[in-house]
Amino acid sequence: MSLFRKKNVEQMIAGAERTGLKKALGALDLTFLGIGAIIGTGIFVLTGTGAVQAGPALMIAFLIAAVACALAGLAYAEFASTIPVAGSIYTYSYATLGELAAWVIGWDLMLEYGLATSAVSVGWSGYLQSLVAGFGLKLPVALTAAPGAVPGATTLFNLPAFLVMMVITTLLSVGVRESTRVNNLMVGIKVLVVLAVIAVGVFHVQPANWHPFMPHGWHGVFGAAAVMFFAFIGFDSVSSAAEEVKNPKRDLPIGIIASLAICAVLYVAVAAVVTGIVPAPRFADNIAHPVSYALQVAGENWVAGFIDLGAVLGMLTVILVMSYGQTRIIFAMSRDGLLPQVLSRVHPRFATPVTTTWLVGIFFGLIGALVPLNVLAELINIGTLAAFSMVSIAVLVLRRTHPHLPRSFRCPGVPVVPLLAVAACVFLMVNLQLITWIAFVVWLAIGLAVYFGYSRKHSLLARTKH
Ligand code: ALA
Repeated sequence: MSLFRKKNVEQMIAGAERTGLKKALGALDLTFLGIGAIIGTGIFVLTGTGAVQAGPALMIAFLIAAVACALAGLAYAEFASTIPVAGSIYTYSYATLGELAAWVIGWDLMLEYGLATSAVSVGWSGYLQSLVAGFGLKLPVALTAAPGAVPGATTLFNLPAFLVMMVITTLLSVGVRESTRVNNLMVGIKVLVVLAVIAVGVFHVQPANWHPFMPHGWHGVFGAAAVMFFAFIGFDSVSSAAEEVKNPKRDLPIGIIASLAICAVLYVAVAAVVTGIVPAPRFADNIAHPVSYALQVAGENWVAGFIDLGAVLGMLTVILVMSYGQTRIIFAMSRDGLLPQVLSRVHPRFATPVTTTWLVGIFFGLIGALVPLNVLAELINIGTLAAFSMVSIAVLVLRRTHPHLPRSFRCPGVPVVPLLAVAACVFLMVNLQLITWIAFVVWLAIGLAVYFGYSRKHSLLARTKH
């Protein structure tokens, strides 16, 4: 039974109320928060891979991924608003599904956030290189990408990706967090860049490039949707702010749906423009900056340079937010005794978990430097989709076990919406490659080994309850 031991929900809620975070956020702030975390490597880099897989029907792939996210987002929001503990779904699931499920979700999230930082650092590197190439600067080829990432070239180490991780890690370790002002500025830059792609690119579209629309049939579209799901990850940060929202009942669903809808519209338009300028199969050459590349092909070199610069700036905040999330999950798991105590040790002056921050920064920095982006994206998606499915199930469980808890936001259409969310997530998971599944199962197996070998015995909850 100890596998199902749970934290006490009422105590957690009471504890959260005591922390007294200011309730200052409205629907517009949440929408900005969401867009800030969403727009990044997915649209700027994976668009190339997606176009190869789906052809111009990449537009449909984006829509499918957005719908899956919206369904999961509604369930996620109910969970977050019921137990508005600053933290993540790891914490929520500890109170409802029990320790083992919480461990599995936490372990999954480590995969999501950790590898996402690596993936975005790779995307950042591609755009930085394109930007400096505009000034005639070039790195030695061996240091431009992970081994095997570029067909026909000998690449060894993605140096810019590693270095940007070190910079972000330094910032995080001395306690720099993103402020709302910086976030809003970055959102402005990113949206402007994307709008520029659309507004300038649309005049260079040759509709002939949209035929064949679906070169690999639905199979290709679904496969691309499963990869492009990555481009929407980050909307969950909206739910995580539940505790600081003025009117969660109204603002949370607006924040989630609005940020997803805005990004979906932008993404579909970018997909239309990019595949309208460059014939989709050309992206098979693994172009590291497909969006600015399309503008270069169109002869708009100035706009392409502007896109490079905007992407380089805009992706920094995604790395910062994801790294922050990652260190805080490990921090929470360590504080609960499920990971060694040293990981929740806080630096006396900077008040940050310095050891965790550096361990994570160096580890995932090396992964970004050594593993190709496509492999990373699929792994991140499978971990995230699994976690979202579990959260949707947890909403149903919580409605049964704790029907009277005050819920500032209720997911509409229960049980249909959460069940559809599970179905959509599982559907996308099924469309990922076999090798991704194998890696995921290995990751879970390691997680379970750690749990049964260490965490179960060291759990703080075990010590207090027995
Ligand atoms: N959605 C984020 C990105 O595309 C993770 O970079």
